[in-house]
Amino acid sequence: MTDTLTIRRPDDWHLHLRDGAMMRAVLPETARHFARAIIMPNLVPPVVTSADALAYRDRITAAVPADMSFTPLMTLYLTETTDPDDVAAAHASGLIHAVKLYPAGATTNSASGVRDFAKVQPVLERMAEIGLPLCLHGEVTTADVDIFDREQVFLETVLHPLRDRLPGLKVTLEHVTTSHGVDYITQADGDIAGTITTHHLMINRNHILAGGIRPHYYCLPVAKRATHQQALIAAATSGNPRFFLGTDSAPHTDPNKETACGCAGCFTATNTLSCLAHVFEAAGALDRLEGFTSLFGPARYDLSPNADTITLTKGVTPVPYPAKIATGEGPVTVFDPGHPLYWRVS
Ligand code: DOR
Ligand code: ZN
Repeated sequence: MTDTLTIRRPDDWHLHLRDGAMMRAVLPETARHFARAIIMPNLVPPVVTSADALAYRDRITAAVPADMSFTPLMTLYLTETTDPDDVAAAHASGLIHAVKLYPAGATTNSASGVRDFAKVQPVLERMAEIGLPLCLHGEVTTADVDIFDREQVFLETVLHPLRDRLPGLKVTLEHVTTSHGVDYITQADGDIAGTITTHHLMINRNHILAGGIRPHYYCLPVAKRATHQQALIAAATSGNPRFFLGTDSAPHTDPNKETACGCAGCFTATNTLSCLAHVFEAAGALDRLEGFTSLFGPARYDLSPNADTITLTKGVTPVPYPAKIATGEGPVTVFDPGHPLYWRVS
């Protein structure tokens, strides 16, 4: 039985670091294991201009602990008034690696997102020209669509027409949660990929709702039924380079999660690699973990894989990790997969 695995150092292609005291507390949880991450721009106010991204990058870099190395890969938050020239300049200078599109109202801090796709067509055209990837929160937001169907309806009513209009645009469908999303990415022509989170590989909607409501499993897109979870596991462990890791680790303090109307987000940065090794081992696919965490993402973003490696070791006793991370804003609960984990980064 394999109990040691050395892989290229991983990257996280979808991460929420927040800002200020929260950022300073959660950043080491990612930087301990990951070399780089695509940083989500949904701050309040959002990271909209290249000047915003530059300032945010400086704040992140200044907060990296002295004994760790970590490179934030910045993104811009697409609004209906985003200036295509500013986006192109930020890309040309190497500052940004993607633009993030939130349909307005889809999730945390998405109020400045896109309502009318016609208004962002010029930016998207420019992005297609210069090869800048679009990261998509793929859910419709209309109240008449059931929350469990919002990704599937988005594929049909938004993504498909968008890619028809802009066949040259590099699109990453983020945090895929359905077999429909997996099938779309697997079968589509052109430049499309999908990120998959740690938590969507480990939980389905029963974990959130059966036997009591568990707010720390609530995220968006919400976890779907078990058959969809199985489709995600199959995709992640398939070795198809269109699927790679974006944890969507999204810290919220306990008071903001454990309340009558709690925030969406699972905080998985601390134990993501232990979780993933568990999932890949259970699928008989440990040899494919490196592609998912460390190779396919860099290839997608025209970057080299990291030169250094990490080693995962399977122990006989469970991996200890903290239940909560203390932050200046309050405690953040670490994702609990509901069973012990035995793989640790050594
Ligand atoms: O669960 C989520 N949390 N999904 C998102 O899309 C945003 C994120 C956050 O920022 O908290
Ligand atoms: Zn996210």
